[in-house]
Amino acid sequence: MTESLSKPAPSGSTSGSTSGPTSGPTSGSMAGPISGALDLDAVRACFPAFTTETCANWAFFENAGGAYVPQAVIDRLTRFLTAAKVQPGAPYPASALATEMMAEGVRAMATLVNVAPEALVIGADTSTNLHVLANALAPLIEPGDEVVVTNLDHEANITPWRRLTRRGATVREWRFDPETGALSLDGLTALLTENTRLVCLPQASNITGAVCDAAAAVRLAHEAGALAVVDGVSHAPHALVDGSALDADAYAFSAYKVFGPHVGVLAVRPSLMARLENQNHMFLAGHGALTVNPGGPNHELTAALAGVTDYLDALYARHVGGEGEEDDGGAAPSARARVAALFALFERHQSALTGRLLAGLRDHPAVRIIGAPTVGPHRSPTVAFTHRRLSSRAVAEHLRGHRVAVRHGHFYAWRCMQALGLDPEDGVVRASLVHYTSAEDVDRLLAHLPA
Ligand SMILES: Cc1ncc(COP(=O)(O)O)c(C=O)c1O
Repeated sequence: MTESLSKPAPSGSTSGSTSGPTSGPTSGSMAGPISGALDLDAVRACFPAFTTETCANWAFFENAGGAYVPQAVIDRLTRFLTAAKVQPGAPYPASALATEMMAEGVRAMATLVNVAPEALVIGADTSTNLHVLANALAPLIEPGDEVVVTNLDHEANITPWRRLTRRGATVREWRFDPETGALSLDGLTALLTENTRLVCLPQASNITGAVCDAAAAVRLAHEAGALAVVDGVSHAPHALVDGSALDADAYAFSAYKVFGPHVGVLAVRPSLMARLENQNHMFLAGHGALTVNPGGPNHELTAALAGVTDYLDALYARHVGGEGEEDDGGAAPSARARVAALFALFERHQSALTGRLLAGLRDHPAVRIIGAPTVGPHRSPTVAFTHRRLSSRAVAEHLRGHRVAVRHGHFYAWRCMQALGLDPEDGVVRASLVHYTSAEDVDRLLAHLPA
């Protein structure tokens, strides 16, 4: 018998659970804010790419495509492949180490986005994770059910849900405003009906940079008795994610854009996980996250995920020095508190540089900025633009000639390009900044923009 997604009491209790991907992994002391600026030399010294032949002397702006990794990630990967490259789960030392290193990787991601480790699925990438999630959820959909998708998302968070029409679902499209590049909550409210079962949205756009009030959208979905799936891929590299506060039923991000190895991470509310159709071997039914992955996770890459928080911990220590490692009560800040303090620092740095980039683009007579032309909490550091005279392809090629790593195109946000009135193949030029981006990088891009 299939349990349908039919309504629980409509008052935000959709999941019927108080523990979401929710309940974060770490309690413990808060860390105070880190004063002063980000030590960019210290940051960049942690990333070997900056001194590697293929990357050195490039101003790298393709971070939204995939970020560089710190040495700490490489170290975890090397250690796993050297000392633990066996099947995990057995009691002999190499296997026990493999088990522990993989668990550390999962715990690191749980700390990063503040959810319980048991809620996490480690899959090939976000596209795969959302595809598998949609297949697992399909049996809960019935004819007449309605599914809300946007025209702003990367296609990874659209196609799998649109395919639910095969189950008789009706798709309702939540359209963004091409002027602002943003989705409005009013737009969502207008689409919600008593038949809405699912609302899928981005936390930030990978093109317009618009940051959605995802927590409010999740609340609206829940009040309508629907589930909410949030794609955090374009948000997680730039801002502190609080999966507990967000309260989405599923939250996806790509670790390889958050300075980790190439895997996708999906947090699923345990009570929803229990209702999904098992996608793995039949005897694994009921085994939580294992059921939302047709195979197993990549072992060495899962282990390497812990390098992300190793890096953040080292950077935290570097910034607070001997002071601030303990709070007033004498307790060391929790791992989550250290991540939060650092991300506040990253956000200040990114905000200053995004402001610098947007100001330069605004002053350029031939550039049209896509989305908000000003910096602020409504905008992430992913900046797309077109040129009034030249194709996006030509602008990107020109910039690469000056060692500015950008690309052009639709970046798989194909429907977004159409809504913006752009040819998806030529699309936009996209420059995305992260915390290791420097002012010199930004200035080089601006200096070499064709007139
Ligand atoms: C916003 C957004 N969502 C989803 C994806 C898909 O992620 P993955 O490459 O991990 O499948 C991307 C990839 O660029 C993205 O930018």
